[in-house]
Amino acid sequence: MEWKTKITEMFGIKYPIIQGAYGGFGTSEIAAPVSAAGGLGIITAGALKTPEGLRKDIQKAKSLTDNPIGVNLTVGMCPHIDGMREVAIEEGISVVETAAFKGEEHGKRLQDAGVKWIHKVATVKHALIAEAQGVDAVVIVGMEGTGFKSIDQLPTLIAITWAAKQIKIPIIAAGGISDARSFLAALAMGAEGTYLGTAFMATQECPISEKHKQYMVSTRPDDRKLINKVLVPPDPKDLERVMKQKGQIPHSEWMSKLERLLLKEDPEEKQSFEIEEILKLAPASLAVSGIDDIPSVKELIDRIIRGAEEILTKGIFGSIRP
Ligand SMILES: Cc1cc2nc3c(=O)[nH]c(=O)nc-3n(C[C@H](O)[C@H](O)[C@H](O)COP(=O)(O)O)c2cc1C
Repeated sequence: MEWKTKITEMFGIKYPIIQGAYGGFGTSEIAAPVSAAGGLGIITAGALKTPEGLRKDIQKAKSLTDNPIGVNLTVGMCPHIDGMREVAIEEGISVVETAAFKGEEHGKRLQDAGVKWIHKVATVKHALIAEAQGVDAVVIVGMEGTGFKSIDQLPTLIAITWAAKQIKIPIIAAGGISDARSFLAALAMGAEGTYLGTAFMATQECPISEKHKQYMVSTRPDDRKLINKVLVPPDPKDLERVMKQKGQIPHSEWMSKLERLLLKEDPEEKQSFEIEEILKLAPASLAVSGIDDIPSVKELIDRIIRGAEEILTKGIFGSIRP
């Protein structure tokens, strides 16, 4: 079956599957195998710490696959972000994702250099703003997903179907996608592509501890701690308190507080960028519902695609038979 969507066409990839960004460990080790298997692997610039580190990692990824690879610039968290952006352009990266905070300034520069600009948001409101700013495609992360939590975030099912009625540029769905059914459901909601963070963390290639991978296999999506971390939005009162501190304390300190709050952690504690600390901030999403073992990246992508093809060709939609 040919998996042609506006996103596969735009990015020049075989399957509408994109690997999520990971602060601390989103390097070529996970991005290259995803791209080699027909998805779009994303190198998280911040994980490489310096522009030269990013350059070396892009070159390493390119030595492993000829397929397109993306770069993520997490605004507010990625060090030397302007230099990182320029390295992505110089190294011929064809897709760059901005995330977290406003990415317009980077987006314009990227588009002028012929790079596709995608932006990741947590709400339909912000997706519409990104569309008005001229982004090429938008990633919308539903409530089931990890990462920055918004008090206005909606579940993936509602966010994507509602966005599809309003947004003209291609939408990439994220939040809780882990297997053939959730992949196909996202496309049925109107997405042109899917974006998987937690699911690619539970692969052999992902450079995190075996212990954390086993935690994802054994944790149920109705685990109380996980539900509290993922589904409960930040307290609006805490948000108001941190917002009031803007301009009153050094900007970097304020950003760090805001980031911690949006990741549902105590904003008054100091943030660390060690891998184990990042995994405490964002251990997994409700996508653990689809994680039963630790396959290779290629096995995971093949399972999703073959499973989706079987559903489409055999018509196994619940009890409905075409
Ligand atoms: C450990 C971890 C670190 C992450 N770091 C980043 C990051 O630095 N930048 C970013 O844009 N998203 C980051 N994310 C969010 C993912 O890229 C993605 O949006 C999210 O995992 C999608 O939801 P899912 O896990 O349900 O697939 C991170 C997620 C995890 C689990």
